[in-house]
Amino acid sequence: MAPPMRFFSLLLAIPASADILFATSYNDHTVTSLRLEGSTLSVVGKNLDCGSEPTWLTLDKTKSRLYCLNEGWGGNASLTSYQTRADGKLTTLDILPVLKSPVSSTLWGANNERLAVAHYDTSTFSSYDVSNAKDLRLTKSETYTLAAPGPVPDRQEAPHLHDAILDPTRKFLVSPDLGADLLRLYRITGNSWTAITPAKAVPGSGPRHGGFAVHGPNTYFYTVNELSNTITGYKVTYSGSSISFAQILNFSTHGPGGSVPAGTSSAELEISPDQRFVLISSRNEASLTIPAFDGSATTIPSDPIISFAINPASGQLTLTQIAPAGGLNPRGFSLNKAGTLVASALQNDNRVVVYKRDVKTGKLGAVVASATVGEGANNGPNYVLFNDC
Ligand SMILES: *[C@@H]1O[C@H](CO)[C@@H](O)[C@H](O)[C@H]1NC(C)=O
Ligand SMILES: *[C@@H]1O[C@H](CO)[C@@H](O)[C@H](O)[C@H]1NC(C)=O
Repeated sequence: MAPPMRFFSLLLAIPASADILFATSYNDHTVTSLRLEGSTLSVVGKNLDCGSEPTWLTLDKTKSRLYCLNEGWGGNASLTSYQTRADGKLTTLDILPVLKSPVSSTLWGANNERLAVAHYDTSTFSSYDVSNAKDLRLTKSETYTLAAPGPVPDRQEAPHLHDAILDPTRKFLVSPDLGADLLRLYRITGNSWTAITPAKAVPGSGPRHGGFAVHGPNTYFYTVNELSNTITGYKVTYSGSSISFAQILNFSTHGPGGSVPAGTSSAELEISPDQRFVLISSRNEASLTIPAFDGSATTIPSDPIISFAINPASGQLTLTQIAPAGGLNPRGFSLNKAGTLVASALQNDNRVVVYKRDVKTGKLGAVVASATVGEGANNGPNYVLFNDC
């Protein structure tokens, strides 16, 4: 029996945890907890237990757990598990040394008891038992080699796994390999995985991050390709225990026929929660000009976040908007669960910015709030996540 409406109103009266965000930053070596209240984004905590180069966060909202990857540039790499608290602060549960250069992770397996991790420099896909967050354990890893460098030899001298993504059926994991121009694929059985034949990406494109979009019977997969600054789209089909990817589109991050300045390096890709839009971020363009955040009358350069609308029947993309990311080097950004806010981490500006987003049009709007995150020149905040998905 459904509870009476009064019960729902009581639930809604509890302060929304959507107001808490977490950001990783290289230069101050912290995970910063932020609270968004109206137009104020304030720092409510800084945690140093993610090690020297915090780079990526994965949230298990149901269990109030947060997992942080430390790339370990000069020292040891690590995986840290945290308990999240209502006030935004983090309680450290465990710190596990891991193979160098973990850059992205995703939860998978029964009850999200496993974490898959992509390792960039060390060309490895690994996974951890996180069923007891106070006792993290490596369960399995596979390291890859390249027989010969790819079409972009200085970046494709070795396999470079850059993302770990669980498919919507929870039966496969995908890891875009920037060095080998592959989508590495893993079949899940219970809490274990087996590598299966990878799908080919566009040669020399350097697939970096990706995401699935599901429209009724149609499943699509999109990658943002760092080396060619393009987006590739695939139609995904399942048959028995296999998954296959058929390319349906491939064009500039600025849309068909678009171009980017030399030195551009696309970074993040997110699918809107309603599956209707693909959003990507692009670094080192400085192609837009926005008002400064210090209240002065000056302007500052910004890189873009670019939105595309997905055609549900075909998977084709239409350019919707090229919006400011809020400054330079938006390595990571994310949407809240409702899709009404976009938080962007500006690595060169020591800033996190929250933008309004119109769910219907898919367009980013006004700045809601911003905060200083990171200390020192460059290599500041690189990823930011809402505590609600
Ligand atoms: C890395 O880990 C090893 C073994 O735990 C330790 O001896 C060493 O001090 C660590 N190095 C750094 C830079 O933290
Ligand atoms: C993919 O798109 C890019 C940008 O338009 C183009 O340079 C490249 O040749 C395309 N490759 C394939 C295999 O379609």
